[in-house]
Amino acid sequence: MGTYAVTGAASGMGRATAERLRRDGHTVVGVDLRDVEVIADLSTPTGRAAAAAEVLERVGGRLDGAVCAAGLGGIPGRDRLVQQVNFFGVVELLEAWRPALATAGNSKVVVFGSNSTTLTPMVPESVVRALLARNPDKAMRVLRRFGKRSAPFAYASSKMAVTRWARRSAISPQWAGAGIRVNVLAPGIIATPLLDEQIARGEKESVEQLAVPIGGRGKPADVGEWVTFMLSPAADFLCGSVIFLDGGSDAYFRTDDWPASTGPAGIIRYLRRAKAWRARH
Ligand code: NAI
Repeated sequence: MGTYAVTGAASGMGRATAERLRRDGHTVVGVDLRDVEVIADLSTPTGRAAAAAEVLERVGGRLDGAVCAAGLGGIPGRDRLVQQVNFFGVVELLEAWRPALATAGNSKVVVFGSNSTTLTPMVPESVVRALLARNPDKAMRVLRRFGKRSAPFAYASSKMAVTRWARRSAISPQWAGAGIRVNVLAPGIIATPLLDEQIARGEKESVEQLAVPIGGRGKPADVGEWVTFMLSPAADFLCGSVIFLDGGSDAYFRTDDWPASTGPAGIIRYLRRAKAWRARH
């Protein structure tokens, strides 16, 4: 049986994941604002550092896996908070836990992304780049230009940045090379308290407008099954993947976007990366 850290374990998909893992006999250390083993506020650097350290102490420096489900939706007027939790609340914890994941060997990380990363139009690339450069002030400067319409961009950019960070890390010697599999689960509309809050804020129409070819809304318990599968030995060969669990919304809106021909720039990138790989191995 393994030992897992699960952020956002007090509610929704994080909670469903923690429950599923415990049912299988695993040890779970939950991190959240309430009702879990490690109570911490992931929106602040001190809260994140304390959460990371307390988890490491509780697990004795060894983790078989980590699930980063703590997160917020787009909240008008709270762009900075959303970015702090959704981006920094993932990457700073995982970086602190990396040695414990390497110690376990053959460990797995599941980061919660979102299908908003591919469905939100016109997300400013400069905000994503600023987050990846760990410059939240610059990200906020750009977001302010959107005035009252910034919340969807703040949310989608936080999820784009965390997804890219996960894919960059996943393939690196520090993560893949240390036997740590990093992957992203990108949910669509899932019936959780987060969704209820969005609807209560008056976003019912935009939620209902989103095409879901299979119909309905996803269930947190089903997401917990997926995460458990992504943590299991069956996922040993999964590395840097983004799994869309969204009833077909991404496929509906972006049917032919991918796979797509990369064109000449793709050839140059392919050759450059292949050369770097040969040099390393
Ligand atoms: P939820 O609201 O049910 O659970 C999120 C948990 O994160 C809560 O327990 C909350 O207390 C915790 N959290 C929020 N801010 C925190 C902070 N500062 N410090 C510590 N913990 C904090 O939400 P849900 O729906 O289960 O979301 C899980 C993840 O999935 C989130 O990252 C969310 O952005 C993402 N997501 C959700 C979708 C949905 O339709 N529900 C769609 C796509 C992505």
